[in-house]
Amino acid sequence: MKKIAIINGSPKGNSSFTLRIAKMVAKKLGCEEPIEIDLQKYSFAGCTGCMKCFKTDKCIINDDIYKILSIIEETEIIIFATPVFFFSVSYLMKHFIDRLITWGYKSKQLFGKYAIAVTTADGAGSNKVSKYLGDFCSFLGIMYLGNAFCYISEFDTYKKPKSRFQNKMNKLINNVEKVLKTGIYRLRFADYYNFGLRKRIITIGRKKYSYEYKLWEENNYLKMDYYKTNHKLKRNWFKKKLADIATKIVVRKHK
Ligand SMILES: Cc1cc2nc3c(=O)[nH]c(=O)nc-3n(C[C@H](O)[C@H](O)[C@H](O)COP(=O)(O)O)c2cc1C
Repeated sequence: MKKIAIINGSPKGNSSFTLRIAKMVAKKLGCEEPIEIDLQKYSFAGCTGCMKCFKTDKCIINDDIYKILSIIEETEIIIFATPVFFFSVSYLMKHFIDRLITWGYKSKQLFGKYAIAVTTADGAGSNKVSKYLGDFCSFLGIMYLGNAFCYISEFDTYKKPKSRFQNKMNKLINNVEKVLKTGIYRLRFADYYNFGLRKRIITIGRKKYSYEYKLWEENNYLKMDYYKTNHKLKRNWFKKKLADIATKIVVRKHK
C-alpha cells in the first residue's frame, strides 16, 4: 500500500470539506489511513523572500515547517488539499508552498515525489487553483498526477458525491494507478514550460543567479528538458516544442 500524506490547507481542520474529499481520494487509492497534516495545527511563517536559500539550500526560518517536512519525506504521494479562497489557495497553503522552494530540486527531499491536488469551492476557481498547484509542482520537480476539483454543488447535501464528481475522481485514480504500476510519468506541457522557463531565466541572468546556475550546471539540467528523477519519463515532442516556443517569447522581456 502506498504511503499517502494529505496536506490540508483549510483553516477548518478536521471539519473541512476539502479534507473529506482528500480522504475519499486516498481511500480510493487503497490507503485507509493517510497521514493527515492539518496546516492550521502547525506554527510556521510565510517566506520572507530573503533569498538565502538560493545560496545555501537551507531556509533560515527555523519553525514547524521542518516537522512537516520530516513527515512527508517518508511518504510517496502528497495530496495538496485546499479550499478555493478568492480564486486562489488558502493562506495556509500559500505560506506552506512558498516555503517549499528550498526542498524541491535544490535539496531534493520532495524531488521526484508524486503529488495530487484536491481543491474545493462553492462555484468558481477550483480548476484554476488545481492548475496553479500543478505548476508549482513542475517547478520543483514533484511529479504531478492530476487533480480532483470539487464544487459543493457536486454533493448531495454534503453526503454523497454526484456522478459528475465521481467521474472526475475515477479518472484521476485510473491515471494515478497507471503511473504507480508502470513507473512511467508522462511529461506535461507545464513540466516542459516551467522547467524551460527557469532554465532560460537563470541562463540569461547567470550573474544574478550564479549560485543556481552552478547548481543547474553541476546537475546537467542545462542540457535537459526536465529534471532527472528516478522515473521513466514519457516525452511528448509536440508539448516540448510548444513549451519551447512559449518560453522563448516570455523571456524576450528579460533580455
Ligand atoms: C474567504 C473565502 C473566499 C472564498 N472564495 C471562493 C471563491 O473564490 N470561489 C468559490 O467558489 N468559493 C469560494 N469560497 C468558498 C470555499 O472555497 C468553499 O466553501 C470550500 O469548499 C470550503 O472548504 P473547507 O470546508 O475545506 O474549508 C470562499 C470561502 C471563503 C471563506
